[in-house]
Amino acid sequence: MKDKNIQKYSGELKKIGISHEILEHPELHTPPEVLGYLGLELSDGSSTLIMRADDEFIAVIRRDDCKLDLKKLKEILRVNSLRMANPDEFEELTGLPLGAARVYNPGIKTFIDKKVFEKEYVTGGTGSFTVTIKYKTEDLNKIPDSKVVDVAEIKELEKVFSNKIVFSGIQPSGNLHLGNYIGAVKHWVKDQNNGLNIFCIVDLHAITVPQEPRLLREKTFELAAILIASGINPEKSILFIQSHNPDHANLGWVFNCFVSMGQLQRMTQFKDKSEDKEFVSVGLFDYPALMAADILLYDTTEVPVGEDQKQHVELTRDIAERFNSKFGETFVLPKPVIPKTGGRIMSLVDPTKKMSKSDANQNATIYLLDDLELARKKIMSATTDGFRRIAYDVKEQPGISNLLEIYSELQGNSIKEIEQKFENKNYKEFKVAVADVVVNFLKDFQAKYNKVIETDLKKVLEDGAQKAYKLSHPKLMEAYKKIGFVN
Ligand code: TYM
Repeated sequence: MKDKNIQKYSGELKKIGISHEILEHPELHTPPEVLGYLGLELSDGSSTLIMRADDEFIAVIRRDDCKLDLKKLKEILRVNSLRMANPDEFEELTGLPLGAARVYNPGIKTFIDKKVFEKEYVTGGTGSFTVTIKYKTEDLNKIPDSKVVDVAEIKELEKVFSNKIVFSGIQPSGNLHLGNYIGAVKHWVKDQNNGLNIFCIVDLHAITVPQEPRLLREKTFELAAILIASGINPEKSILFIQSHNPDHANLGWVFNCFVSMGQLQRMTQFKDKSEDKEFVSVGLFDYPALMAADILLYDTTEVPVGEDQKQHVELTRDIAERFNSKFGETFVLPKPVIPKTGGRIMSLVDPTKKMSKSDANQNATIYLLDDLELARKKIMSATTDGFRRIAYDVKEQPGISNLLEIYSELQGNSIKEIEQKFENKNYKEFKVAVADVVVNFLKDFQAKYNKVIETDLKKVLEDGAQKAYKLSHPKLMEAYKKIGFVN
């Protein structure tokens, strides 16, 4: 056990005869995230609310799917005023970070809602965001100076599901480029402290087009290292390889039967990727059913992706709706989250086409592992126009607009600020500045990457897959049961 404070708290619980089990998890801040991670229902969790009742502080324990009836509690306590302790009061009284209250707070009168006792076991806070304790519920009666009261009601379902669960995926085919980073990975990194975040290296998707086995294996590790070097923290977020969790392929098959040929034929990515190809696999056509499974297995609420994946996330919602309307509420409808700028980084050669891993022209794409001088050359030779003004106008000046977006996204200034800075400058001066920003970014990034690639990535990815499976498997079983498969 990492934390001495938890050991001490556990010792105190033992002293008063409360049986419990200590459960570790990545850093998570809200009960729905913790319970989701542990594969438990919201009703299996409890939270302790530190409150101020007239002049006295009290602790109230209620189940996480319940809402406190303040009026009732006030009547029971016979007080005039009742409110949550403010952050300063909370920290002074408990010595714990806000949001991590324990069930046992020595010296404070404790009121336990009776619905808590409907469960044999219940989890609760420990003062830490990486550890949860599972209690034998009847033992909570042993908390000194505690009383059972009837003061909470079960909340409506939409509130239960209002917590944020983020899922996104990326293919280990080819090399990662600036478009992938700016359109997707950068946002995954930034939002990691919020909600439960799950990131998947989608190797099952990669084989929808032919792959060379040795290279696929190599690229899978390379991608894991790129994601970690970009800032994905496997202690905070779940990072895993899709083929390590068989639930994806299993639910993907089910969704084959909930999506029509017509719907799949309308997918623009299929049209683009199958054009002029001699061999087009059924997998490439059917790919959105698997992508829907990826997302829906985790009760995902948000899918941060670049513009090109929006249609697939919309189809995912259709599939979830079709399943739910036939079998009852099963899957949460996710929403695509597309960045306002940078959601579609364009090719440097033909700025009317998106930057892509599979572009035949190597100058079109800046790869994260590109040689720095090569990257500089690619920017310097990027297609521009004859307008001779540095202005953001995607229609008239797609090349310059693309360079403005890249500059802004990597350096942090707004596009307006950059336009002003280069108002009287020529294209060459602007390109030199863009190239400097890109090269500096790549240099920093590659230094981190070179360290990460030497670490034990296999272990990190295996741990991630185990965590993912714990979350996804109950959902797959629920779907199987509803469909009528024998348990
Ligand atoms: P993939 O591997 O092609 O791309 C990974 C992410 O990068 C974004 N992206 C771009 N963003 C801005 N400009 C560009 N030029 C650009 N090119 C790519 C993509 O939109 C994506 O967010 N089908 C997905 C992988 C996937 C997935 C999922 C995503 C599988 N299952 C579930 C989300 C949820 C794909 O092929 O991404």
